[in-house]
Amino acid sequence: MLTVSNVNRGNPFKVFGRKKGQLKDWEVDWLAESLPRYRLPEEYSDRATLMQALGADPDQGRLLVEVGFGNGDVLAWLAARHPVDRLIGIEVFQEGMVSAIKKVEKAGCSNVRLIEDHAQPAFENNIPDSSLDGVYIHFPDPWRKKRHHKRRLIQHTFLDVVVKKLRPGGFVQLATDWQDYALWMIALTEAHPGLTNAIEKGRFAPRPDEWLETNFQRRGWRAGRASHYLLYRKNG
Ligand SMILES: C[S@@+](CC[C@H](N)C(=O)[O-])C[C@H]1O[C@@H](n2cnc3c(N)ncnc32)[C@H](O)[C@@H]1O
Repeated sequence: MLTVSNVNRGNPFKVFGRKKGQLKDWEVDWLAESLPRYRLPEEYSDRATLMQALGADPDQGRLLVEVGFGNGDVLAWLAARHPVDRLIGIEVFQEGMVSAIKKVEKAGCSNVRLIEDHAQPAFENNIPDSSLDGVYIHFPDPWRKKRHHKRRLIQHTFLDVVVKKLRPGGFVQLATDWQDYALWMIALTEAHPGLTNAIEKGRFAPRPDEWLETNFQRRGWRAGRASHYLLYRKNG
């Protein structure tokens, strides 16, 4: 039986980059009060029991995860467009959590749950195996210096856990505006035995039909960085 583990229990995953951000003390308190409303249920054993506990029909709704949702623009937008689906956002940045909760509440969505943790233990501790219909990972931190590449989110071991949690045929959608990271991603995803390129072997994907242009992406364009998209499906 899986139980919620929003609290970091001293797991071995070090979080790099900003964690608290510019939060004021009252926002830290507001987050501590608000986050419990977005927790996953106490107990569930598989996709069906999780979806039911989330008030969704497991045969109708999709179970989707967005990793590193930043300020929550995409998470709230997807949740509003797909009220039948259930979306789980994973983020380590507390300022992002506050912003996402405000956006989800403004959009009037009740189909979002949040996990404040590093993505890998968040998947391992909270997500039943073979339960996800899709995983979105948009613009993960590029960690451009070679000596920092080991900090990149997309690694063999991380893809292993994502694949384990996807249903057969479930998708992983990736985007980055750093060409070097795009090449890193496609090398790892093409080599993963559990994934097949949904477009064509070795090819980047076109911009997804369902896509929200964010300020973050526009900043990359203004700096001359084109976005690269990848779409893979779990085999089986
Ligand atoms: C460059 S931002 C992109 C945010 C958002 N996806 C967007 O497109 O605007 C990357 C985000 O990933 C989060 N992040 C970094 N490492 C993470 C990890 N290991 N687990 C979960 N989130 C992570 C960061 O806090 C940050 O909000």
